[in-house]
Amino acid sequence: MPFSPSVFASFRLDGEAALITGGGAGIGRAAALAFAEAGAAVTVTDIDGAAAEAVVAEIVDAGGQARAMTLDVADEAEIVRTVHEAAAEFGRLDVLVNNAGTAKRVPTVDLDTADWRRVLDINLTAAMVGSREAAKHMLPAGGGRIVNVASIMGLSGGGLYPNAAYHATKGALVNLTRALAAEWAPGGIRVNAVAPTFLKTKLTEKLREDPAMVAAIEARTPLGRFAEPDEVSPGILYLASRASAMVTGHTLAIDGGWLAI
Ligand SMILES: NC(=O)c1ccc[n+]([C@@H]2O[C@H](COP(=O)([O-])OP(=O)(O)OC[C@H]3O[C@@H](n4cnc5c(N)ncnc54)[C@H](O)[C@@H]3O)[C@@H](O)[C@H]2O)c1
Repeated sequence: MPFSPSVFASFRLDGEAALITGGGAGIGRAAALAFAEAGAAVTVTDIDGAAAEAVVAEIVDAGGQARAMTLDVADEAEIVRTVHEAAAEFGRLDVLVNNAGTAKRVPTVDLDTADWRRVLDINLTAAMVGSREAAKHMLPAGGGRIVNVASIMGLSGGGLYPNAAYHATKGALVNLTRALAAEWAPGGIRVNAVAPTFLKTKLTEKLREDPAMVAAIEARTPLGRFAEPDEVSPGILYLASRASAMVTGHTLAIDGGWLAI
């Protein structure tokens, strides 16, 4: 008897609509491309509207369906407007990826409260607001999937350099993921997260100016290297699709073994 095609089919998002924040580069871009390849109509949002447009052009060139929207997730009203516009555009909203994130790597004795609040707004409050607004479409529709992009630093205290606001917000994002998963499971919304290790994206540009820091990160990582965005996007697609139908409240480490030691 031939194998059933159901395993790969369960990763498909045909006929579904997804929205990604910070989709113009790095992990968000890779997730947008993966979702489009899986058949979803993707709303690619980014504070950098041109970057979002460029990703949409890539998707459309490859035969996919996508739309770009400029969105700064530090602005609550913008998130609310964007989620509802995106849902109206494609007539549905099945998947939300809360991906946009930032860091303020300074010793905590030098950490301004305003900078702390900005990291909190972008890394944590935006995910709550986006999820809340998305749920207003998903719950009446019978469900949906939300994937939060956390970090290994949400599951550990770091130690290589000071980054308290990042650690605090990513740790809170891991537990927001559990709380929303529990709250919305009866409504059919699954909420999960990924916890990636270091990637060579813009977010880590400053860190990587120091070769000793790069060497320390590689030495600390069992697999001995940084991750690529397209090594994180398959995990996001898994959590966004029927392939993970029995998974909720989970944070999937994509970390080259960082958390194993
Ligand atoms: N790079 C890493 O090492 C790493 C590791 C673990 C987790 N993460 C997380 O992955 C997520 C994506 O990071 P990345 O490495 O792909 O970064 P990146 O810098 O490559 O891309 C981030 C994208 O988000 C956009 N962006 C920045 N601020 C925004 C805002 N206020 N509103 C909307 N969009 C905004 C940027 O324009 C950019 O296109 C973040 O949440 C980050 O914390 C990154």
